[in-house]
Amino acid sequence: MELKGIVLAGGTGSRLMPLTKVTNKHLLPVGRKPMIYYPIEKLTGAGVNEILIVTGTEHMGDMVSLLGSGKDFGCRFTYKVQDEAGGIAQALSLAENFTHGAPMAVILGDNIFEDPLGPVADAFRAQGKGARILGKEVGDPERFGVAEVVGDAVISIEEKPARPKSRIAVTGIYFYDAAVFDIIRNCRPSARGEMEITDVNNAYIAAKAMRFNVMNGWWSDAGTFASLANVSDLIAKRPPRN
Ligand code: G1P
Repeated sequence: MELKGIVLAGGTGSRLMPLTKVTNKHLLPVGRKPMIYYPIEKLTGAGVNEILIVTGTEHMGDMVSLLGSGKDFGCRFTYKVQDEAGGIAQALSLAENFTHGAPMAVILGDNIFEDPLGPVADAFRAQGKGARILGKEVGDPERFGVAEVVGDAVISIEEKPARPKSRIAVTGIYFYDAAVFDIIRNCRPSARGEMEITDVNNAYIAAKAMRFNVMNGWWSDAGTFASLANVSDLIAKRPPRN
């Protein structure tokens, strides 16, 4: 079955105020492009041509004006509105009718990385079911979901732990089969009131259905001033490969 793509581009961008006062974080410039071009180009580079963009009500108009039908990217876009910021898993639940039983590649719209996505997408296609996530060793794991790893298997993930069990951040690039929507329905909001993607990933781990790769090239989110500046430097030095 064809792999569908989902870019999650909602949220208030509060950590980048006032840059995000009148626009969406994912429309901000990174290098020579709007931020959201990077995840889209990763998906099309991996042979994913049906892509759902999920964003909030405030800037959906600008998002559509920028991206259009997808013909400039060699893909087809579908758009869905996330009425309120309820977490990554809640945003992903909006994709159920779009994926229609197909497996999916999900990228958080502020995740930018060097390696091509194609080889990992192919590994997931071959895997056929379950889920696959990508980790990356970082200096500040407490900012992320952190993987507890034994050998090459991930045995649990903790969301933004005060005392991380490893330095391996779980990146915002996820592959799921259609079972993800039932898993999300069984999740409850976390202490911060959000439906956490980490709870979804832990459900796959508990079912022994999670595969895990560590990225070789650089990876960064771009949701804070420091990471936004850092990612522009990384792109200038070693451009992302699709
Ligand atoms: C989210 C996830 C976290 C992941 C990160 C990657 O965090 O909850 O597990 O490591 O994305 O960018 P956020 O930055 O949205 O708080």
